[in-house]
Amino acid sequence: MTQRSLVLLKPDAVRRGLTGEIISRIERKAGWQITALELRTLDAETLEQHYGEHKGKPFYEPLVEFMASGPVVALVVEGERVIEGVRALAGPTDPIAAAPGSIRGDYGVIVRENLIHASDSEESAERELKIFFPGRV
Ligand code: PPS
Repeated sequence: MTQRSLVLLKPDAVRRGLTGEIISRIERKAGWQITALELRTLDAETLEQHYGEHKGKPFYEPLVEFMASGPVVALVVEGERVIEGVRALAGPTDPIAAAPGSIRGDYGVIVRENLIHASDSEESAERELKIFFPGRV
């Protein structure tokens, strides 16, 4: 089942120099391809489109503020079961609950600075790809 996922390496990953390490973990999975990659600082409109479903939740404002605090690396990853697969590499939202060996389990401590976003379904992926790479994927 070939899929596409929108992956964001969050501002903490960029600030801490972890993007190469995280990308390397993705690249090592057999058959997965990175088909787009861009370093960019996200504006308020993009963040509202991306996280709009969470508006009103207590974490929304801190999350959006954090995601605008520095550049992110946006990636498109394609391959077999990549949606489930990148989320498995990332580990659960709360890094303290994430197992060692996962990206969040190895490098994260606080929930807001959890290093990586990955699309959670095929529907989300198609919506998110249109936001981050309009007309390109
Ligand atoms: S929910 O309510 O279950 O749908 O939320 P969840 O899927 O766990 O998280 C949605 C996104 O919000 C981020 N998040 C947070 N950010 C900052 N602070 C807190 N406390 C927090 N809790 C959740 C979470 O990382 C998800 O963003 P992405 O970019 O997908 O990782």
